[in-house]
Amino acid sequence: MNRRNTTIGIGLLGAGVVGSQVARVILAPDADHRLSLHGILVRDVERQRDGVPSELLTTDPESVLGDDRNDIIIEVMGGEEPARSYMATALSAGKHVVTANKEALAKHGDELTNLAAQNGVSLSFEASVGGGIPVLAAIQDSLTANRIESIRAIINGTTNYVLSSMNESGMSFEDALSEAQKLGYAEADPTADVDAHDAVYKLSILARLAFGASAHPDMIHREGIRNIGAKDLRYASALGFTIKLLAIARVGSEGVRCRVHPALVPVDVPMANVNGVLNAVELNGDLIGPLWLQGRGAGAGPTASAVMGDVLRIAKGISAKPSPLSINGELNGVQSTDAQRSERIDAPNVVDMNDLQARYYIRLTCLDRFGVLAKIASVFGDATISIASVLQFDADDEHGLADLVIMTHPSHEASMQEAASRLRQLDVVASLENLIRVEDYDTV
Ligand code: NAP
Ligand code: HSE
Repeated sequence: MNRRNTTIGIGLLGAGVVGSQVARVILAPDADHRLSLHGILVRDVERQRDGVPSELLTTDPESVLGDDRNDIIIEVMGGEEPARSYMATALSAGKHVVTANKEALAKHGDELTNLAAQNGVSLSFEASVGGGIPVLAAIQDSLTANRIESIRAIINGTTNYVLSSMNESGMSFEDALSEAQKLGYAEADPTADVDAHDAVYKLSILARLAFGASAHPDMIHREGIRNIGAKDLRYASALGFTIKLLAIARVGSEGVRCRVHPALVPVDVPMANVNGVLNAVELNGDLIGPLWLQGRGAGAGPTASAVMGDVLRIAKGISAKPSPLSINGELNGVQSTDAQRSERIDAPNVVDMNDLQARYYIRLTCLDRFGVLAKIASVFGDATISIASVLQFDADDEHGLADLVIMTHPSHEASMQEAASRLRQLDVVASLENLIRVEDYDTV
């Protein structure tokens, strides 16, 4: 792709929220005139799409993938298949691929990257993480001299919107989700967002680029937000915290631990004030120190911004190189920046949660009578977990129950899980409602 001043052919796979916007940008009168959109793959050619010429629509993948005029294939269909095979076909045919598809990348990034390298083309995917936030470009280019030590991020707008609404208005998870669906922020099937699969895919991509860690989604600890109640946000607030779905990857002596779960975040740190559908990423590099990126993580405009940034970089011949997303940090790129970076990375292992040290918030519904606290405290003592505070809320005289919120000092995850399982068996505990890690803001 070094044909300056010649036409650059583009095939588009998908014309939904993102693809239609990408088509409009390419076809705009003031667009780069070298770009020529030759075909758009969709399921339904009869559907009206604002600003997208119907004569470009097709349901035949071969007519887009097999069109020799296309130099770049933009994949914005989503999902694992057939997106993965279409991208593989395009790369094998020597076409550059630009994608926003975090699921296909997180699960098949090694295969696709190797295909790109073998065929001397690029696989670009800025839009797959953080929508319009240029976080992958920052990691791969501007921060390439750094050893990235940690990443902490809000990378799912839907869940951030739901938690923000619950926090602001005191509404239940179900009501907040339903409102998000009515406003078009949440999908009709919210599983990928609410159960944190989406954030795990994005963290998997971030961990590979930042640490060279082969963090398959199955190796990333995942907890969604279904279990967060209005009470948790109310009690967290009383303790000086809010609750956010965080994606965290941090390098330690044993390797890199990747986790996505709700966390108590102190109300006075910037992450606590990232609300609605906004995304934010905190990075810590050995040279740059802490870095903060915030912006719109989804939506037609921000996502098309990232997709078209990749397309135009390829068009300018800057990024016509293999991507460094690869197995075990064995970076495929042969360019100097990637090679320099690879020398600094000893692809870290991905480690499990057992040795995590964290403070914990535990909410119990328990009997409201003498001796209960002593029984509960003995479970923590037996597990060598030190209690920092105990608060009782919402005593229910009619049923003789109360909510107990226990905050611990830093403890081992394995010990905490063992204690949680013993607490559930206590006759004085009606239920262990929630166990939420507290995010420590003394470290990034
Ligand atoms: P979308 O609105 O559901 O659009 C998907 C498009 O792909 C539709 O045009 C659909 O055709 C087409 N399509 C899907 N499966 C197909 C198949 N098997 N054969 C042919 N066409 C097929 O999705 P989107 O929101 O634009 O998202 C696209 C990608 O961008 C996803 O990977 C998503 O994760 C990623 N992304 C989205 C956002 C966002 O804000 N939406 C942000 C960041 C990343 P029809 O229109 O005919 O049904
Ligand atoms: N569903 C994602 C979110 C947007 O809620 O952030 C696409 O990455």
